[in-house]
Amino acid sequence: MFQNTDSIQYMIYKLKHHFIMVGILSVFLTIITIAFLSRVITIPLIRMKQMTEKLSKGDFSVRLQVKGGDELAELGKAIQTLALDLEFLKKERKEFLASISHELRTPLTYVKGYADIARRTNIEEEERNRYLSIIYEEAEHMEKLVKDLFELAQMDQHSFHIHKESTNLCAFLKKLYDKLNPAFQAKNMSLNYFCDGNITVHIDQKRFEQVMMNLLDNALKYSDQGSTVSIDVKEKKKNVMIIVSDEGTGIPEEDLPHIFERLYRVEKSRSRTKGGTGLGLAIVKEIVEAHGGSIYADSIPGKGTKIIITLQEG
Ligand SMILES: Nc1ncnc2c1ncn2[C@@H]1O[C@H](COP(=O)(O)OP(=O)(O)OP(=O)(O)O)[C@@H](O)[C@H]1O
Ligand SMILES: [Mg+2]
Repeated sequence: MFQNTDSIQYMIYKLKHHFIMVGILSVFLTIITIAFLSRVITIPLIRMKQMTEKLSKGDFSVRLQVKGGDELAELGKAIQTLALDLEFLKKERKEFLASISHELRTPLTYVKGYADIARRTNIEEEERNRYLSIIYEEAEHMEKLVKDLFELAQMDQHSFHIHKESTNLCAFLKKLYDKLNPAFQAKNMSLNYFCDGNITVHIDQKRFEQVMMNLLDNALKYSDQGSTVSIDVKEKKKNVMIIVSDEGTGIPEEDLPHIFERLYRVEKSRSRTKGGTGLGLAIVKEIVEAHGGSIYADSIPGKGTKIIITLQEG
């Protein structure tokens, strides 16, 4: 009982000292860890915030360095994809507007020029009529362009409805054949039609007539006299293929992937006699896809073109 407790007191003092040291160290380490983790998490978030702010101001050229495969990296990749898509859309819109203004400027130049000549008093009546016909043709061209653009704009806004009805495909195509055959005969071309059996498809007849008219108009426009255009219908499992083939000029391989794009034309000179507006096939594609079908083109330059539409039967 009367023994000296100095050594125990010293040990207690030492232990206390150790506890305090360990305590301070662990608090310090926790603070460092928290600070480090929050920086690791917040830095990418801050970068993403800055990027989205730039995006909202219209700067779509911003790029984000994304590392890892966690949720934050996924979010970063999603924002990056959004920026790329927006940049692509901006570029496309710019090009589209440039093409539209070019498309409208050309006929307007003709109209203005010929109207100026036609109003002169010192020209022959016959000559005046010729100029007026050109003005009329150019106005028609512009009317078609504006109508097609309006239709495509409606398709983009999804304010375009298709009313599908059960249709006998062969009967539908036969009616179309009878309607268009005279135009082919007038150009000394023949239109063939092969459709066997009882094939039923669900289509919006008015819209689908527009599809076929566009394809046959191309076949007629881009073929020479004496050639043949055919409409073939084939069944494959539960699918129906409608093939429009011609023996016309064909489409070069490098142009083939682009012909369904808006305002795309192989003939870049946009000649008045041959060229259309380049919107026909874009409208065709939209309508076919709205029916749940697909369309593609196959062509050999100088030999002819095949446009193949695939629809589901029934
Ligand atoms: N059957 C075809 N044979 C050869 N070239 C074709 C054929 N169909 C389309 N093309 C090419 O594809 C381009 C795009 O066709 P699309 O029908 O969209 O436009 P377009 O015929 O020029 O104008 P639009 O149909 O609007 O009056 C055409 O300009 C033409 O160069
Ligand atoms: Mg066309």
